[in-house]
Amino acid sequence: MRLILLGFGVVGQSFVKLLVSHSADLYNLYGIKPKVVACADNGGIVTCDQGLDLDRLLNVKKKKKSVVQYGSRGSTSEIVDVIENMDAEVVIELTPTNITDGEPGKNHIITAMKSGKNVITVNKGPLALEFPSLIELAEYNRIAFKFSGTVGGGTPILEFAKRCLKGDRIISFEGILNGTTNYILSKMYEGLNFSEALRDASEKGYAEKDPTLDIDGYDAVAKLVIASNFVMNLKSTIKDVRRTGIRDVQSSQIVIERKKGNAIKLIASCNGKDLIVEPKPVSTKDPICVDGILNAITFTCQHSGQQTIIGKGAGGMETASSILRDLIDVRSTIRL
Ligand SMILES: NC(=O)c1ccc[n+]([C@@H]2O[C@H](COP(=O)([O-])OP(=O)(O)OC[C@H]3O[C@@H](n4cnc5c(N)ncnc54)[C@H](OP(=O)(O)O)[C@@H]3O)[C@@H](O)[C@H]2O)c1
Repeated sequence: MRLILLGFGVVGQSFVKLLVSHSADLYNLYGIKPKVVACADNGGIVTCDQGLDLDRLLNVKKKKKSVVQYGSRGSTSEIVDVIENMDAEVVIELTPTNITDGEPGKNHIITAMKSGKNVITVNKGPLALEFPSLIELAEYNRIAFKFSGTVGGGTPILEFAKRCLKGDRIISFEGILNGTTNYILSKMYEGLNFSEALRDASEKGYAEKDPTLDIDGYDAVAKLVIASNFVMNLKSTIKDVRRTGIRDVQSSQIVIERKKGNAIKLIASCNGKDLIVEPKPVSTKDPICVDGILNAITFTCQHSGQQTIIGKGAGGMETASSILRDLIDVRSTIRL
């Protein structure tokens, strides 16, 4: 199976490490012998028709900062040409999430689909902005389009709803889809104020240098859009979501709710019509009332009632494991 890897940061490198460490299992259990024939980062793209040496690729990235130091290479402007013309079955899109215009991921994904290549991504931007049209393009071009890691990182939230609850009707869902804000709110519950909790999250590496995407709720919005479209067959985009972040949550509110047996959580919810991201009180006995960087989501189903799934919503290896799951699924749909 020939793979083109676009983005070689935390998730991309973790994924390649998984390919190296799981190569025997992948072949013995699933018949997959992956070859990474191209790999891109912000410095450009490196290609090798016979497959890149993955240990060397990881070493080059670590020591020289960009994969272009590996050897035969091109600039980022040549990425589209490589997607179109390189012989490969799957394009794995792992560039940074951009919820303004979805680029560069959107262009990478559309080019791959139009070239008849299967696509796996964990990049939320393109899906949050254009979920319906990307699904349509994938169907039109008869390729597999997988994006498990966009919601819940390695926790299989989307597959849980789609596969495990198959046959039942999901009426609504709500949960915590952003680990950074959950960590901050958990620390505020313990007594820190917002600034102290944010500083603590940054020091532990849970908050980005610019934490706006998390704190103002945009990351949860993007995940809510993807989950509601995928799980409840909506055709929503970011602009359909009513959003409030956690910037204005006061310590005094948390203390009041705590006395009532509640914690304030950033809750993303969908009732089949309204899409909302907002901080609100949740009983500490509710299974979605998880602490720290965990994600948790409860699906309310017509027949089986409420089902909750909890897990780490981010992390390089965790998210890379979702790509591996998607790759195994893609393998089952194609003939090599
Ligand atoms: N990290 C997580 O836990 C997690 C969880 C779920 C989803 N995600 C999503 O997964 C994606 C990757 O996350 P990450 O944590 O691996 O991010 P990251 O460490 O910032 O890596 C992003 C990679 O994309 C490369 N890149 C940036 N602009 C590019 C361009 N124009 N062309 C080609 N490559 C480009 C970067 O190059 P350089 O290395 O040269 O900078 C880097 O290798 C993001 O969309 C993120 O939202 C991440």
